[in-house]
Amino acid sequence: MKVSTVNDLIAACLLWAVFLFLIVYGSDLVYDHQQPAKIVYSINGEEAPVTEKAEPKQQISLAERLQQADIENGRKVFGQCGLCHTPAKNGPARVGPPLYGIVGRPFASASEYTYSRAMRAENGKTWDFATLDTYLASPRKYIPGTAMAFNGVKDEKDRADLILYLRSLSDEPVELPHLNP
Ligand code: HEC
Repeated sequence: MKVSTVNDLIAACLLWAVFLFLIVYGSDLVYDHQQPAKIVYSINGEEAPVTEKAEPKQQISLAERLQQADIENGRKVFGQCGLCHTPAKNGPARVGPPLYGIVGRPFASASEYTYSRAMRAENGKTWDFATLDTYLASPRKYIPGTAMAFNGVKDEKDRADLILYLRSLSDEPVELPHLNP
C-alpha cells in the first residue's frame, strides 16, 4: 500500500472520529438532558407552552378497588395500625380505639375510649367504605385535629386491601358496594 493511501485512510478515520464526537457531544450541548425537553407549539404565532404530559391517571372507583382487593395484603398493611389499634373482638383500647366492627360503626363510638374533640365533633357520621378510604388516605386532612398521629396509607390499592381486611373484623361483614354497570 502506498504511503499516501495510508495517510488518506488515517485522515478519513480521524474525520470520522471528529464527526462521531460532534454527534455524541454536540447533542449533549444542544439538548439539556437534566431537564426533559418540553414541546412548545405555536398557536397564532404566539408560543404556547404545553403543560407537561401527565401520567394517564386511571380512575378506579372504590367499589372496583374493593372487588379486586387482596385481604391477605390488607392484613399485612394493618401491621402499621396494630401498634395503636387491636383488631380483636372485645379487644382493649390501646393508643387508639379497638377496630373490631369498624365498618358500619358510628364515628367516635367505642365506649371505653376517650376521643379527641375533633373526632367527637364528627359524631353522627358512620364509618363506611368511603369515609374510611378518605380518612385512611390522610387522617389529618380529613379530620384536622384528630389524635391519630399517622400519615396515611397513600397507595390506593393498599388502602382498598386494608379496608377489605377491616370489613372482615366483624360478626356480620357489611356487604361490599355494588359496581355500577
Ligand atoms: C400512632 C397510633 C396510631 C396508628 C399507627 C393508627 N392509628 Fe388509628 N387512631 C389512633 C388514635 C389515637 C385514634 C383516635 C383519634 C381521635 O380521637 O381523634 C384513632 C382513630 C382511628 C379510627 C376512628 C375510630 C373510631 O372509633 O371512630 C379509625 C377508623 C382508625 N384509627 C383506623 C386506623 C388504621 C386502619 C390504621 C392503620 C393504617 C391506624 N388507624 C393507625 C391512633 C393510631
